[in-house]
Amino acid sequence: MGAKKGAESRIDELRQLIRHHDRKYFVENDPEISDRTYDRLMEELVSLEAEHPGLVTPDSPTQRVGGEPAQGFETVTHSVPMLSLDNTYSPEELREFDARVRKNLPGEDVAYVVELKLDGVSVALTYEDGALARGATRGDGRRGDDVTANLRTVPSIPLRLAGELGAVVEVRGEVFMPRSGFDELNRTRKREEAPPFANPRNAAAGSLKLLDPAEVAARPLDAFFYQLVDASSHGVETHHEAIAAIAAIGLRASPEASLCDDIESAIERCGEWQDSRGGLDFDIDGMVVKVDSLDQQRRLAATAKSPRWGIAFKFPAQSETTVVLDIVVQVGRTGKLTPVAILEPVFVSGSTVSRATLHNQDEVDRLDVRVGDTVTIEKGGEVIPKVVNVVKSKRKGRPRRFRMPSKCPVCDEPVAKPSGEVDLRCENVSCAAQVKRSIEHFAARGAMDIEGLGTALVEQLVERGIVEDFGDLYSLDRDELIDLERMGEKSTDNLLAELEKSKDRPFARLLFALGVRHVGSRVADVLAAEFPSMEKLRGASEEALAEVDEVGPVIAGSVRAFLSSKHNRAVLAKLERAGLTMRSKRRGSRAGSSPAGSRLAGKTVVLTGSLEGMTRDEARDAIAAAGGRVTGSVSAKTDLVVAGKDPGSKLAKAKKLGIETIDERRLRKLLGA
Ligand code: IVH
Repeated sequence: MGAKKGAESRIDELRQLIRHHDRKYFVENDPEISDRTYDRLMEELVSLEAEHPGLVTPDSPTQRVGGEPAQGFETVTHSVPMLSLDNTYSPEELREFDARVRKNLPGEDVAYVVELKLDGVSVALTYEDGALARGATRGDGRRGDDVTANLRTVPSIPLRLAGELGAVVEVRGEVFMPRSGFDELNRTRKREEAPPFANPRNAAAGSLKLLDPAEVAARPLDAFFYQLVDASSHGVETHHEAIAAIAAIGLRASPEASLCDDIESAIERCGEWQDSRGGLDFDIDGMVVKVDSLDQQRRLAATAKSPRWGIAFKFPAQSETTVVLDIVVQVGRTGKLTPVAILEPVFVSGSTVSRATLHNQDEVDRLDVRVGDTVTIEKGGEVIPKVVNVVKSKRKGRPRRFRMPSKCPVCDEPVAKPSGEVDLRCENVSCAAQVKRSIEHFAARGAMDIEGLGTALVEQLVERGIVEDFGDLYSLDRDELIDLERMGEKSTDNLLAELEKSKDRPFARLLFALGVRHVGSRVADVLAAEFPSMEKLRGASEEALAEVDEVGPVIAGSVRAFLSSKHNRAVLAKLERAGLTMRSKRRGSRAGSSPAGSRLAGKTVVLTGSLEGMTRDEARDAIAAAGGRVTGSVSAKTDLVVAGKDPGSKLAKAKKLGIETIDERRLRKLLGA
């Protein structure tokens, strides 16, 4: 008993010491003891806890990496929606923002806080009685993924808060990967022949999505927090006090936040950071300007999307010059040939650029870009890199003009230029490039969603002649798969199970997965609602197709051409033989619940607000299966609006137009669920 008591108090003491030194090291960058001394404290705690397993608590510093890899993430509904900020790109726009703010606060002084806009992944952390209870990603703003186990592994996120603030404390901020850690991680990945991450933000986002916390622990993640939810309940009245409160409870608070008396000094701060951001060890894609007074923030409130009290100031796109090493031609899923500039790698706006699309011959001619040329590359934060011009003064000799080939670079068949189009196309449906891309599209999320069928595997399947089109996926041989590179028994069996599962995807998804030109997921829904089986679709004339709302002659022509092709008919036959769903599902067998008899049959439905018992995709699929279709916005053509929790302006519009609205419960009834 005495020994246990002794152990208990030593354990307690060690935890407090370790938390203190974690905070000094990871949060404040101000270590007080050597790594060796720290390690000794940790070793002592680990061994005491091993002797007294009953004394282990989840907030112990030994418990950062715990549990088994997850199957997936639970969904968390945010206490208050996680909105996003509107963007501005110039001092002038910031002044306009200030004018709007002051118009809403007549006669009042407005002070601003200027902060770095961290380029990471936004997260929300909830501490209950001082212990980290939950961590979630932003998701769609209302609901995100519960990534608590992953966030627990981030060393600068304390498992227990250092100071008292309240029984429930929620903070929001950004998880990111420092540049130094990112470079190191990519070097390791290169050694291990794993694909490198394009930039620190992707690396951070990818890390949080890992299902195994032990793997996340090996990723150099860090976090900054810039929002204390419900701050006034914690006795905080301004944003700069909130930042101080965040720091006081032991979290890493938004760095370099500065309080400015007016918009002009805020603009000045933004300009200073634009010039000096290169000195930071993490990426920022701009600055954030926020009204400091929380009372003013409350009165300014928010639109459906973003608060009126804050705004992002995005830095202009950065540009760099580099050399065009080559111009190659890529063949896409629908056979489109695209010229691509292969560049001497160059670092622009947070990532290394080594290729840039040149779109088509017209664009190549417009730029007059040739192999060997020095070019200016421009890239904003998330924007795809663009070749903006050729530095003609640096052109050496007289390089040859680039000409698009007359034959497909992959299959060597002649290419065609359909009249009225600028693009060249390879019309050989068996072209390996098209086959690969179309299989990737078929298997993609939102299409047949076949996990485990990635680029590397598709490459092998096509190159080795194991599949000639996606119809062959359903007759893959287990033994043949196991023999492929990076495939083992487990991944083979998983893939076969995934393929089996995909056979039941709704007909609309299959239509999308086929990769018919111009048929995106929306059009696929529309077609599946109007022609609820492959048979019906095949039987439809071009005119009948073109008459469908949102279809029109171009899509109709494309669908007809697809279905009339001998090759495509053969592929469809394979899918049919494999037992894929070739018709919109009837719900149950009772009369009146079939699509034709369903209250949703032929109805145009709009979803608004968040649904509790199903995701939007599920609702869409279910409505499509019942013969209806879901569109994005309310118009006179809308038959029904389903209002979930916190419905947006669509509900108001529906009411104005006198459109019938129902709640989620009623929707479930109509779906027969
Ligand atoms: S404040 C209502 N402050 O930028 C949203 N956001 O579009 C309040 N971000 O989703 C956000 N640094 O992920 C805020 N210092 C900062 C930020 C920041 C990065 C991100 C955040 C947000 C997005 C805004």
